[in-house]
Amino acid sequence: MAEAQGDAVNIERLGETIGAGVSGVSGRDLAQAEIAGRLLDALEQHGVLVFRDLHLTDPEQVAFSRQLGEVEVLPIPGSDHPEIFTVSLDPARATSAEYLRGTFFWHIDGATDDVPNKATMLNALEAADEGGDTQFCNTYAAWEALAADEQDRCRHLRVLHSFETSQRLVYPDPTDEQVAFWRKRPSKVQPLAWTHRSGRTSLVLGATADHVVDMDPTESLNLLYRLEEWATDQRFRYQHHWAAGDLVVWDNRGTMHRALPYTAASGRLMHRTTIVGDEPFS
Ligand code: OGA
Ligand code: MN
Repeated sequence: MAEAQGDAVNIERLGETIGAGVSGVSGRDLAQAEIAGRLLDALEQHGVLVFRDLHLTDPEQVAFSRQLGEVEVLPIPGSDHPEIFTVSLDPARATSAEYLRGTFFWHIDGATDDVPNKATMLNALEAADEGGDTQFCNTYAAWEALAADEQDRCRHLRVLHSFETSQRLVYPDPTDEQVAFWRKRPSKVQPLAWTHRSGRTSLVLGATADHVVDMDPTESLNLLYRLEEWATDQRFRYQHHWAAGDLVVWDNRGTMHRALPYTAASGRLMHRTTIVGDEPFS
């Protein structure tokens, strides 16, 4: 089979402000620097790239991820592919199943880190028989569509983000042990409006957002709620209904995402790779 050249890659917009479908490439093509370079540009432009029916192998997923940047390596002893994290609610398949219910709420991966992930890739090995779609929203587009006076109000605000805040949505009545464990992860103050090196600005929101620093608590709650409603509105959103073999990549710097609820019994199983970020929140 002839190898795809860059011009065989077809990229088609999916949503009004977010999402593009990519066709004309195979798993092997994705390890080519020229093709991956074009896809990286498309990722910046569209926020989310969707490849249907790709059926990537683990080595192909790792190779493609490496073309996009430095790949996070997980401390999994004896794993053939320590870059691959298993996303499943079944504790027999995934060690982090307990925390993954946190993905049911809008979030940015690594929102309590200094430098959030650049991109995340999910490869569907098995789709859920019910539920489990993933929704994405474009936080650049949401910022750009805000009225100028709203932008001025938000531009210099800072927000405290914590793992505990996001886990309390899943476990509203936690044990002391749960709380102690959550608090091992340091919380972090982030700008509400992140101006990137590119010059574009995105909103930094999501389940980890606890409160706006130095603001009256009720006012803070209202503002965060209102902005999240705004940013996750239909016109900034793309929803992916998974089939086994699909690959989805998102730009974690200019999007938020969440999984729609599913159960361990749904069979949903994803292989995830994470591309390390190189730009701090600022
Ligand atoms: C993640 C995540 C959503 C999903 O892997 O970071 O939030 O749909 N996943 O599984
Ligand atoms: Mn996530």
